[in-house]
Amino acid sequence: MGISVRDLVKIYGQSTVIKGISFDVADGEFVTLLGPSGCGKTTTLRGIAGLDTIDGGEIRINDQVVSNASSGVFVPPHERNLGMVFQSYAVWPHLTVAQNVAFPLTVRGVRDTAEAVQWALDIVGMNHLAARRPSELSGGQQQRVALARAIVGKPQVLLFDEPLSNLDARLRDRTRAEISRIQRELRVPAIYVTHDQTEALSMSDRIIVMNAGLTMQDGTPAQIYHEPVNRFVADFIGNANFLNVQRHGTTWTLPDGTPLLVNAEAKQLDKEPVVALLRPEAIQLDAREPGQAITGLNRLTGTVVSSIFLGQHIEHLIRVAGTELRAFSRELLEAGDTITLSFHANDCRVLIDDTN
Ligand SMILES: Nc1ncnc2c1ncn2[C@@H]1O[C@H](COP(=O)(O)OP(=O)(O)OP(=O)(O)O)[C@@H](O)[C@H]1O
Ligand SMILES: [Mg+2]
Repeated sequence: MGISVRDLVKIYGQSTVIKGISFDVADGEFVTLLGPSGCGKTTTLRGIAGLDTIDGGEIRINDQVVSNASSGVFVPPHERNLGMVFQSYAVWPHLTVAQNVAFPLTVRGVRDTAEAVQWALDIVGMNHLAARRPSELSGGQQQRVALARAIVGKPQVLLFDEPLSNLDARLRDRTRAEISRIQRELRVPAIYVTHDQTEALSMSDRIIVMNAGLTMQDGTPAQIYHEPVNRFVADFIGNANFLNVQRHGTTWTLPDGTPLLVNAEAKQLDKEPVVALLRPEAIQLDAREPGQAITGLNRLTGTVVSSIFLGQHIEHLIRVAGTELRAFSRELLEAGDTITLSFHANDCRVLIDDTN
């Protein structure tokens, strides 16, 4: 059951924009495609929706082949039983809210749509506005009409392409929670496209990080955040410090020779250039001089370059062993002050530097 994408390839003219992507979305699972602009998120979603043909691979929905490039199988979108919500709401201006929501049923020839429309509008909390036209609604309300329209046919799959990018921050938070709730209620597989990392981290069971038509990593939000497979993924999610590290047998140093305790468990580190990831929140700042050594703890001395108030925390730039590190704390520091940074070896993760 669910969605299965195997070796998906999409070619536009001379360029291969999807270069062989495979992933599964189990029933009831919420999976996010995350990646920079142009990496192929929308193209992948359009392939699954049947809005485009594919040039390689196979897509199955609930064990039924809906697209197969070799055999030429292609099930048209209206026979795939999908609910889709896109960035532009695409609600019809001349139809009322209720008529908009009924639309997918009407085109399928369903006569009595009232009950289904009421159910869908109830879920998004819009029943009281059923008689209005889109021009009489706020952007967020129009978005919820689009959401109701997507679910009215009790789809077996939900697809979202940046559905919240036109909403303001607060409405985005609310609608985000609503989408999660609706998807859990319907217990269908969902694929959500975004390039907003907060959205991806907070909503997803799994995140697929894409770059240039390829999958970089497929994992839970915590895996993607704490165990990124390479520098691209680490840099794309959350704040990241990268340290140039050098290996000497079993020990590691910074370029100036400062010894460093690291977490070098990741695979394939022998074959490729590496870099160490150190998240700012893993760094403890302490004005005192380094005291007794604690097992597994790095203690380095640095100089404060700058200190910026950001509300929930203060962000510091600290010059250490020839590089600048970002760190957070709750107190402002004076530029030029000497400070001790400590961080655990486990939090200093050596990974492949795929940008090198
Ligand atoms: N109809 C098309 N014809 C030619 N090239 C296309 C077409 N649609 C998309 N592309 C190209 O395919 C690549 C992937 O596009 P896609 O829209 O899937 O990116 P995306 O990840 O959704 O980006 P964004 O975050 O900006 O929406 C881009 O290089 C884009 O220019
Ligand atoms: Mg897109």
